[in-house]
This record gives sequence, structure tokens and C-alpha cells, in this order.
Amino acid sequence: MTHAPRHNPPRRVLVTGGAGFIGSHLVEALLDDGAQVTIVDNLSTGRRSNLAQALARDPAPRFIEQDLARAIPILEREPPFDEIYHLAAAVGVKRIIERPAESIEANVLDTATLLRFASGHARRAGALPNTLIASSSEVYGKGVRSPFHEDDDCVYGPTTALRWSYAASKAIDEHLALAAHARDGLPVVIVRLFNTVGPRQLGDYGMVLPNFVNAVLAGESPRVFGDGLQTRCFCDVRDVAPALVRLLRCPGARGRVVNLGDDRPVSILELARLVGSTLGRAIEPVLVPYDRAYAPGFEDLRERRPDLARARGLIGFAPTIPLEVTVRDLAHRADGSRTGAVARAAPGREVAAP
Ligand SMILES: NC(=O)c1ccc[n+]([C@@H]2O[C@H](COP(=O)([O-])OP(=O)(O)OC[C@H]3O[C@@H](n4cnc5c(N)ncnc54)[C@H](O)[C@@H]3O)[C@@H](O)[C@H]2O)c1
Repeated sequence: MTHAPRHNPPRRVLVTGGAGFIGSHLVEALLDDGAQVTIVDNLSTGRRSNLAQALARDPAPRFIEQDLARAIPILEREPPFDEIYHLAAAVGVKRIIERPAESIEANVLDTATLLRFASGHARRAGALPNTLIASSSEVYGKGVRSPFHEDDDCVYGPTTALRWSYAASKAIDEHLALAAHARDGLPVVIVRLFNTVGPRQLGDYGMVLPNFVNAVLAGESPRVFGDGLQTRCFCDVRDVAPALVRLLRCPGARGRVVNLGDDRPVSILELARLVGSTLGRAIEPVLVPYDRAYAPGFEDLRERRPDLARARGLIGFAPTIPLEVTVRDLAHRADGSRTGAVARAAPGREVAAP
């Protein structure tokens, strides 16, 4: 399918982590807008199959299968970008707990490299690219106020509890981005994503909804950690991806942190039951103590809900896709792959779009 550029010449856009769950939907939103997209992804948690629809488009995105740190020197020799979306990260508390050093390094060092690259556009091209840094609601830590407002304090446990290193690494990313804005005038927006769900999300890294869907499809009981009365807000990725584009292009968002997600809380127990009823299987969830699910002393939050006033004010953001639709589409898995399978490939290849 050919898409005429809405911007002439077409915007040159870089998406890091573009083969991931959110990144692949973002790439499609950008292609719909006629952008010329370059993706950098090392497929550590992303999948080539996530890009199947995007790579079949005309014009297709360019896919550099590479660690971000190795791709940057290649990109430095090329014409500058108009927009940069930085989504590449070691994602999820479970992964951080399993591989803490690599995850912290990936999150902090790669973001520092990316921001230096973005600010370097001033030297090479004069104009600085609009830049978006994907952060996380985890940054709020165990703050007790609800809903979370962007200017609330972030409250963490001790450094001996690995769980907080994901939050701390994303908080450092935010500080780095705000420092690049202050020092170099980089037009950057930091988006704190709350639980984002939808097609292509994997269950491997502890993401709750695909795990529940996989369990119910397999005829097993979804495993709910703790008492299941903790609440979260789930927003469909197809609402989130276009909002990322609007936030990056919104002048009022520059140099600011913006919450993005849904603000209607659902308990994890309710979520498990909703998956069962939506998929037509009456399977009762089982409760699993946190100590067994993660590690002794694991601290979870009772509630995590965004204050969306800023996103509403800046771009008129309002989620539109009901959770039942998300559950059905996640179960359907348009690409026919299992939500738990991760494609791994040797890094270092640039894949020419067909
Ligand atoms: N999904 C959510 O609910 C959620 C919530 C909060 C924040 N986020 C943030 O959104 C972003 C995208 O998350 P996602 O859910 O799509 O996860 P994902 O794991 O599907 O996407 C991350 C992508 O980055 C790639 N990647 C990781 N390290 C890389 C590196 N060094 N070089 C190149 N590529 C690398 C992975 O292969 C993957 O494709 C992340 O920054 C994450 O922290 C997501």
C-alpha cells in the first residue's frame, strides 16, 4: 500500500525499539502519516514478525537490526532526523530482576548516547530533532498519592531491592533528557507510559494481560499475584501510539513530563475474570504469593493510576478502545504467532525492506 507524505519532503523519523510491542504500532502510525522511518532494534525482546505489516508497505521503513550504541555511529554519518522516538529499553520489572546489570546499563547508557546524538544534530544540521523519550509509571515508585501527577515525588525502596532499579534507571533517563533540553535546547518530551496492552504484547517478561490470555487459551487458571485486589489501568496500544506522535509534535509538551495511559482502575483479579468471560471460558484464577512469584520481600503497589489532565490539555487525549476489545484482539493475534515466543537473531545486520 502506498501512502502519500503528509509533509513535503517526508519527515525523516528514527524509532529505537521499533520492532517491539509499542514501537511496531508507532512505526505503523508514522507510516500512515507518510513519514520516512528508520528503525533500530536489536531484537532482544522485539520480534521481526512485529514489523511484517510495516515492511510490506510502500515506502517501507528501513530496519537496522543492531544495538542502539552500535547503530548511532552509522546514523551520525547520514542526513539528520526530524523526529526521534526512543523506545528501546530493557523492559519490565521481571527482566530487571533476572538481569539487573545489563538492564540498568542498557537503559541509562543507551539513552545518554541517544540524547548526545540528538543534540549533535545542532552541530551537523542546525535544526534539532523533536525527540520523545519513553519513560514509565514505575518512576513514581511507591508514592502513595493517587492519581499520580507528573510533579509528584518519586519514592523508592532501598538499592538492595533490585525491583527499584528499573524505576531508578528510567528516572535517570528523564533527568538526562531534561538536562539536554536545558543545556542544548533539545525539544524533548518525556512520556510516562502506564500499563499499555494490546496485540503483539508478549507474556515472557511478566506482562500481566498476555499471561492471562495465554493461560485462559491453554485452559489453565490465570496466576494472580498477592491478593489480586491491587489495581492498574490498562490502555490499548492503538490509543497510545498515535498519542506519542501528537505529543512529540506538540510545542507545549517540550521540556515536560506527560503521563499517558488509561485512568480507569481494574483490580488484577477482575482483569483475570474479564479475560475468562471475554474468551468464553469460566476459569477461576489462582492466587500466588509475591514471594513465590518474584523474590522474598517483593513490594508491589496497591494502585497505579495516572492523572491525565496534562495529556488531555496538550493533545486532547482520551482512550477509546474498551478492554474487552483489547483482550479479544490479543487472543486473536493477527500475526498467528504465540504471545510467548520471542524471535532471537544475531545482531548486526541491516535488513533491506522488501
Ligand atoms: N508496555 C508497557 O506497558 C510500558 C509501560 C511503561 C513504559 N514502557 C516503555 O515503553 C517502551 C517500549 O516498551 P514495550 O512494551 O514496547 O517493550 P518491548 O520490549 O516490546 O520494546 C522494547 C524494544 O527495544 C528493543 N531494544 C532493547 N534494547 C535495545 C538496544 N540496546 N538496542 C536496540 N534495541 C533495543 C527490544 O528488542 C524491543 O524491541 C520502553 O521504553 C518501556 O520502558 C512500556
